[in-house]
Amino acid sequence: MCGIVGIVGTGPVAERLVDALTRLEYRGYDSAGVATINEGKLDRRRAEGKLVNLRGVLAKEPLPGNIGIAHTRWATHGVPNETNAHPHFVDGVAVVHNGIIENFAEIKQELIAGGATFETQTDTEVVAQLLARYRREGLGRRQAMHEMLKRVTGAYALAVMFEDDPSTLMAARSGPPLAIGYGRGEVYLGSDAVALSPFTNEVTYLHDGDWAIVGKDGVFIFDLSGSPVSRPRQITQAAAYLVDKGNHRHFMEKEIYEQPEVISHALSHYVDFAERRARFDSGTIDFSKVTGLAMSACGTAFLAASIGKYWFERYARLPVEIDVASEFRYREMPLSPDQAALFISQSGETADTLASLRYCKEQGLKIGAVVNVTESTIAREADAIFPILAGPEIGVASTKAFTCQLAVLASLAIGAARARGTIDEATEKTLVRHLTEMPRIMSRVLNLIQPQMEALSRELSKCKDVLYIGRGTSYPLAMEGALKLKEISYIHAEGYAAGELKHGPIALIDENMPVIVIAPHDRFFEKTVSNMQEVAARGGRIIFITDEKGAAASTLPTVATIVLPEVDEIIAPMIFSLPIQLLAYHTAVFMGTDVDQPRNLAKSVTVE
Ligand code: AGP
Repeated sequence: MCGIVGIVGTGPVAERLVDALTRLEYRGYDSAGVATINEGKLDRRRAEGKLVNLRGVLAKEPLPGNIGIAHTRWATHGVPNETNAHPHFVDGVAVVHNGIIENFAEIKQELIAGGATFETQTDTEVVAQLLARYRREGLGRRQAMHEMLKRVTGAYALAVMFEDDPSTLMAARSGPPLAIGYGRGEVYLGSDAVALSPFTNEVTYLHDGDWAIVGKDGVFIFDLSGSPVSRPRQITQAAAYLVDKGNHRHFMEKEIYEQPEVISHALSHYVDFAERRARFDSGTIDFSKVTGLAMSACGTAFLAASIGKYWFERYARLPVEIDVASEFRYREMPLSPDQAALFISQSGETADTLASLRYCKEQGLKIGAVVNVTESTIAREADAIFPILAGPEIGVASTKAFTCQLAVLASLAIGAARARGTIDEATEKTLVRHLTEMPRIMSRVLNLIQPQMEALSRELSKCKDVLYIGRGTSYPLAMEGALKLKEISYIHAEGYAAGELKHGPIALIDENMPVIVIAPHDRFFEKTVSNMQEVAARGGRIIFITDEKGAAASTLPTVATIVLPEVDEIIAPMIFSLPIQLLAYHTAVFMGTDVDQPRNLAKSVTVE
């Protein structure tokens, strides 16, 4: 993640912009920069590394100007050096950006063919180059902004400044958050209300697809078609939180909606978006040489590992031995030093997982840690750290950490498969392309299904028991759906392999037991539909989570059918996580439980 801020001020802005950036450092700090317009000219100061370096540059070379934009960067494309630091300048256009421009490679090629020269290795520069080209073609600033937004795809929050207009900034959001702040004669832009809290507590959060022109003449917000839209102003308590809830009621809801942004950030550390290759440092773990993998974790992290097992076995042809951490070390399974072990943990402090790590270390295995907290105990004791870069996860029920764990495990499995020669380059490129498209699809799905999830949660809140079923990677996902529901709504729920229904659980089926079927139209679909028929034949009520093809293929009666886009199997678990997260969330909200801190639970279980 990166942090962006902007000010249309009544006095000098550079120092205030950097102050605002310090409240966004949790979003990343590989480099930072600030730009202003002073006496009709764009100017900027940038520095590699932490904000303190930028402050040093500003102290030596102050930057006058009453309008400006600034950025703190967590590198996604291009090494974190000064050249690649934002703000980017092209012919009188300045841009700062958080997120990923998914189609930057093709736009870059087209612009270079048209004579453009690029200064940086970043995806962001295509935004500035496109705007500059449209201006050269005679488009006005507003038209140029609109044309650019129609061209780029991906997850982005943007702030733009035009040298020939020192009184307004432009902004756009598709995925990562972006807020407008209102001051006395001043207007602000920021990645969240925390950044703006030194200036104001009155903000408007842009919605996905919104873009805006902000300045002394007022704030004008448009949708992607260019029609004006109005968004509410709200008073935030942001100053009270270092990490705020934004315009969400709970941290869990905010973290569900953060997933497109944090996933694109996590992926950028494991895949090369332009080359469509898996690229990461696996430390002392050489996937081309290991003879097998052991994996262990707890709770949701274990279910992420369980899905990862399918990928390591299917693509990298690596046998994977997996168990929940509280059982793992007591099984005394045969392990050998030519295997590697992966431990998945959001907090990096879960006692059982740490104990299993130490058990494998004693057996001489190379240890990998897939963690969110990179200075945690589990990370410190591993030979290789694979950060999931989800940002702070405050909600006790894990959501964005889960899908980031999946994104990282998928990348590792693809990289391992390439290292072992079990997939060819074409397959790697295809799989990485699917991963690259995920943030945009997630953004779309979240907006698409929200109303249906809220309505359906009222049904679910009346239930005493719920069954989730799935096949393939949808089986661990069924267990994750059950875990989410039970841990925040306190409704009993179980996740089962769909094929196992007839071996016992089908005895539970009656009109009081809803069965949530997770079934993308994949190679298991027909078999899962026959399981659904077994349920329907016994008066069971089905909630069907599928895709367009699956919805068209099944004529079975359902309480509800949630239709998601058709996606490749490698990203289906992440996309199909969204309805099960939202269903659990809205059910808990409807029931009035403490969503962010459910009873009896803790965010990190540091006891065995
Ligand atoms: C997830 O929703 C739960 N809160 C819990 O199962 C959690 O996943 C588990 O305790 C593991 O935590 P960790 O990822 O920090 O190790």
